Amino acid sequence: MPLPTIMLIGCRGQVGFELEQSLASRSELKTFDLHNLDLRQFENVRSTIREIQPAIIINAAAYTQVDKAEEQPEAAQLLNAGVPALLAEEAGRAGAALIHYSTDYVYSGEKDTPYVEDDEAEPLSVYGATKLEGDQAIQKSGAPHLIFRTSWVYGLRGKNFLLTMMRLAKERPELKVIDDQHGAPTWCRTIARTTVTALEKILGAQLKENPENLKNVSGVYHLTSAGQTTWFGFTRAIVDALGLECPPTLSPIPTSEYPTLAVRPRHSVLDNSKLARTFDVAPPTWEQALNHCMTEGPDI
Ligand SMILES: NC(=O)c1ccc[n+]([C@@H]2O[C@H](COP(=O)([O-])OP(=O)(O)OC[C@H]3O[C@@H](n4cnc5c(N)ncnc54)[C@H](OP(=O)(O)O)[C@@H]3O)[C@@H](O)[C@H]2O)c1
Repeated sequence: MPLPTIMLIGCRGQVGFELEQSLASRSELKTFDLHNLDLRQFENVRSTIREIQPAIIINAAAYTQVDKAEEQPEAAQLLNAGVPALLAEEAGRAGAALIHYSTDYVYSGEKDTPYVEDDEAEPLSVYGATKLEGDQAIQKSGAPHLIFRTSWVYGLRGKNFLLTMMRLAKERPELKVIDDQHGAPTWCRTIARTTVTALEKILGAQLKENPENLKNVSGVYHLTSAGQTTWFGFTRAIVDALGLECPPTLSPIPTSEYPTLAVRPRHSVLDNSKLARTFDVAPPTWEQALNHCMTEGPDI
């Protein structure tokens, strides 16, 4: 039996890059990003899918600039809601499965305990609202799908909080960091590896089983590191791991002292139990993953 054709969209992003590393050897992988398929060109997206006839479409692309989305709601809506709807429609038509990523920012953050997938989504920002619209379009489509909601994504490539803090810690004598938003920093490699493990559980080690088998487990899953912290706690762990001779002084501040265009949830910790129950997989703690990421240690 030949390897399945997987269409990976967003391969130059944080999660997309790691997915490409994980999937290259076990599939006929066709990779896309802005340079070879602009997702805003719906007809091109449609014809590309019909031409390559993937068994699985993985969408790791999105409009991810949370503050800029407040000023560019149409652009965010097109990428985060319109594109997933189109991909789900085409997946349904082709008998393909759609794997998609969403965010903790679909929740308001008013709940004091970790969110479960059945909790009501009440986004506070354009980014969160458009991502929720994308999730709902996929769920309504009837195509076999997995939607992984993750949070605070970082890695050693691209633009993210970890890289910013690694730079600032070396440049500045003091860092003031928000200490009243709670969440789980999640390494992009954890997301990619967990995605592949979940797929293997349903489609077999070679991912060759009928993608329709994913219908039985279709839905939303929380996929974050275990544990929780604040941006301040995350920064402290980053600075400790750097082991600088002259580390900066770290000062916790409330959100009110660092106003941003988009409102962030106060407490967007996600409960991963549905992921563990369904796929028998448990992501590492955020501290373990950060340590592995910063030392590029063994796979986790
Ligand atoms: N980053 C986070 O903290 C975070 C938190 C929760 C959930 N998520 C979700 O996790 C998923 C992956 O996020 P990520 O951090 O890996 O994203 P990312 O690094 O920002 O990558 C997004 C990718 O989408 C591509 N893209 C943007 N516009 C495009 C277009 N018009 N046509 C084709 N490709 C386009 C980008 O290409 P260019 O780089 O060339 O523009 C980029 O490679 C997303 O669904 C995101 O919403 C992320």
